[in-house]
Amino acid sequence: MGALSDRLQELRDRGLHRRTRLVSGPQGPRVVVDGRPALLLCSNNYLGLADHPRVREAAAEAAMRWGVGAGASRLVSGTMTVHKRLEERLAAFEGTESAILFGSGYLANTGVIAAVAQAGGVVFSDELNHASLIDGCKLAGAETVVYDHCDLEHLEWSVSKASDRPSVIVTDSVFSMDGDIAPLEGIVDIARRFGSRTIVDEAHATGVVGPEGRGAVEAAGLTGEVDVVVGTLGKALGSYGAYAACSSEMAEWLTNRARTFVFSTAPPPPAIAGAMEALTIIEEEPRRVEKLRSNSRVFRKALRANGFDVDEQKTPIIPLIVGSASAATGLCEEALARGLYSQAIRPPTVPEGTSRLRLSVMATHKPAELEAAAETLAEACITTGLKPAGAPTERGATAPGDSGREIRASRRSGEVFDFAAEADDFRRAA
Ligand SMILES: Cc1ncc(COP(=O)(O)O)c(C=O)c1O
Repeated sequence: MGALSDRLQELRDRGLHRRTRLVSGPQGPRVVVDGRPALLLCSNNYLGLADHPRVREAAAEAAMRWGVGAGASRLVSGTMTVHKRLEERLAAFEGTESAILFGSGYLANTGVIAAVAQAGGVVFSDELNHASLIDGCKLAGAETVVYDHCDLEHLEWSVSKASDRPSVIVTDSVFSMDGDIAPLEGIVDIARRFGSRTIVDEAHATGVVGPEGRGAVEAAGLTGEVDVVVGTLGKALGSYGAYAACSSEMAEWLTNRARTFVFSTAPPPPAIAGAMEALTIIEEEPRRVEKLRSNSRVFRKALRANGFDVDEQKTPIIPLIVGSASAATGLCEEALARGLYSQAIRPPTVPEGTSRLRLSVMATHKPAELEAAAETLAEACITTGLKPAGAPTERGATAPGDSGREIRASRRSGEVFDFAAEADDFRRAA
């Protein structure tokens, strides 16, 4: 293994080096980034609740009442009343028997997938799933088969080949870097027909998609039909942490077997109380969710009017795909110089050749700000030598490479089905 300095240099040479920027103040619609004022266009604080006065107060009060830390794993020092209350509220919000809190979405996905998948079984995972789902597949100790993005035909074909083995289908509901929505009805139908379990990550759907922001599962009429719905508290709910909404039996299983629950300190009471207040605000003020949707429409329309090829998706995540990592970084810097902050997203977060600005809208943006931002982005593109263009990743157009995603189906030999070899045949025939 080479020296770290050489490996860091290699990242720089490939345009993949990352650093964090210093942001002053809360994650509001306007921030000061590295000393420069900018419109924030890359935060997941979709509903503007991270700095809402009621949410701040709830967190501050919880710190005074319950303290800052939870002390230990809940299996060691107990469930605090504040955790129990939020779990009850989340189960009611999701329409499930139970909900169980985790420290973060990353911990929830890795823990849930590894606990639900069985040795000797198969996990079917969408090729554009979030890294936490990919890492959960790696931890699961089951074979992982990656199906083409949102391709139900490919999924059904893959699942049918493993119908004699225990299997789980895992998918983002709203894809974090593309903003498109998984075909959940089709996925659940395939799972039902072949006896697979389903895990759906609603990180970017909770508070965003569906009636009163109840998520894409509810919007698809599938409440109670998915084995585990994972939601995060760190995005639209403005706090930190996550939950798995499921049956009581599944919650009992996760309490026993999800290692990221068992072996990790429970989430801090102020974060839990803050998320609970955010949930109350969403329930009391559905117009916030509506405002997010209308802002998303305004921004998409303004981007199209400025020459960007942006589609009609209903989510607040809008990818402007520019191709190379260096082009994305150049555009990010040019936009920042013009007062817009949208971080360049490069491999391994997205597949090679699809680096982008991932724009995200908040309910607290003013429509006029978003319209002006679209114009500024078009100017920034022209200055950096790019033609304004952007579209979600074409289905199946992603190339394998150093993207860090397991794009190819995994290889097994012997008596079990060889997904890799057969997958090529399937694609040729399709
Ligand atoms: C789809 C998806 N799932 C899970 C996560 C992880 O959630 P958390 O940030 O709470 O760890 C993210 C975070 O960015 C995400 O985009």
